[in-house]
Amino acid sequence: MMSKKPEDLMERIVSLCKRRGFIFQASEIYGGLSSCYDYGPLGVELKRNVKEAWWEDMVTSRRDIVGLDSAILQSPTVWEVSGHVTGFSDPLVDCKVCKARFREDQLDSQVCPNKKYKKRPANDCRNQGFFTEPRQFNLMFKTFMGPVEDSASVVYMRPETAQGIFTNFLNVLNSSRLKPPFGIAQIGKSFRNEITPGNFVFRMREFEQMEMEFFCPIEEEPKWYEYWVQKRFDWYTKLGVKADKLRLRPHGEDELAHYSIGCTDVEYLFPFGWSELEGIARRTDFDLKRHSEASGTDLSYFDELKKERYTPYVVEPAAGVDRAAMTFLVDAYEEQEIGIDKKGRPDVRTVLHFHPKIAPITVAVFPLVKKDGMPEVADEIESLLRMEGMRTFYDQKGAIGRRYRRQDEIGTPFCVTIDGQTLQDGTVTLRDRDSMEQVRVHREELMRTLKERIANF
Ligand code: GAP
Repeated sequence: MMSKKPEDLMERIVSLCKRRGFIFQASEIYGGLSSCYDYGPLGVELKRNVKEAWWEDMVTSRRDIVGLDSAILQSPTVWEVSGHVTGFSDPLVDCKVCKARFREDQLDSQVCPNKKYKKRPANDCRNQGFFTEPRQFNLMFKTFMGPVEDSASVVYMRPETAQGIFTNFLNVLNSSRLKPPFGIAQIGKSFRNEITPGNFVFRMREFEQMEMEFFCPIEEEPKWYEYWVQKRFDWYTKLGVKADKLRLRPHGEDELAHYSIGCTDVEYLFPFGWSELEGIARRTDFDLKRHSEASGTDLSYFDELKKERYTPYVVEPAAGVDRAAMTFLVDAYEEQEIGIDKKGRPDVRTVLHFHPKIAPITVAVFPLVKKDGMPEVADEIESLLRMEGMRTFYDQKGAIGRRYRRQDEIGTPFCVTIDGQTLQDGTVTLRDRDSMEQVRVHREELMRTLKERIANF
């Protein structure tokens, strides 16, 4: 029984996220702070898994990429030189009638908030001549460093993690013995004073990015661009996202950021339409050259083999942790009709088909009943699995069917039940979330079987 309207589907996912402890509205007890969210016990594991999977794919599984963790606050000059102080802004228009504020470039998708006009498209309001001339609104959050709040102490909260990588290019080059082609990866918080945040954690004002700047010889850049576009698309499908819900969309000339000569977005078909998950941008030598000129520090590279000095070109896959986590949630969500309940109504189970690498909990362990020595054995098995590095969950309360359903709803791929037979012959029931199939496995074989299933998922 799928929800009929896409909005309903999104509402159900948001409600599950709150009910089961994935994502909460920030400052909820004070009425909530718009566009800010807190990750609960399961959400934080989901997000950690997303970041871990990205880091493994981009850094630890390769020789040519290293990591970095740069400060959120940088010299304001960084943002002047990168073009963010002058160029990182959206055009805003105000409605002279209802005082609502809109992004001029998104009038097609915005509606008038005035109840009298019954959700009329903002474009119609414009055609009536209600709007002011557009003004540029800079998206960077400003704050002050030190005790004096004047223009000399203004600093910005970084709007992207990328600039910390460019300003450390030479430090990494000199300390790591790498030479182009090589990459520097970073995961961290970024801040943008978005005018139209929304769609849950899709567009927030505080969010997390996973960015990698890949520095390469100029002539190799087209090859690396193609490589990274494909590799980033494949990352999502390898982790279980449905390929037919993903697409690559090259940017038109008019969409390109000020530093870019080309960009391809990986997009996902959310309930609210195709939307950007990440962008793979051709940043050329723009940033390194600008920082070289402004700082007086030469950020070029001397190729000893070719006996030449050049400024590397950059290909940048830039993803959002929150958007990726939301994609895994939306893509995994299913309401499955699996029979008829005792009252003759359709029996619907809600299940998140997470890939085991993404699932907050890998295996749940249950004693069938809370007596006859079963809890002790279950406790022993759960401890062993946990010590082997599995994320586990132990639950001994309630009917077993209901315990399985609770795990289905949070996407736990495997459940292990200890019953009377376990005490006799050492076998346990291993239940698969997706097929709901149950098989008996000897407890000595459990770890190997689970590892095998995860590897073959
Ligand atoms: N360094 C390039 C850069 O920052 P971007 O397309 O502006 O490029 C990269 O951002 C990714 O960061 C986006 O594809 C998205 O996943 C994520 N992101 C950007 N703004 C966001 C926001 N307001 N809320 C959540 N995620 C955001």
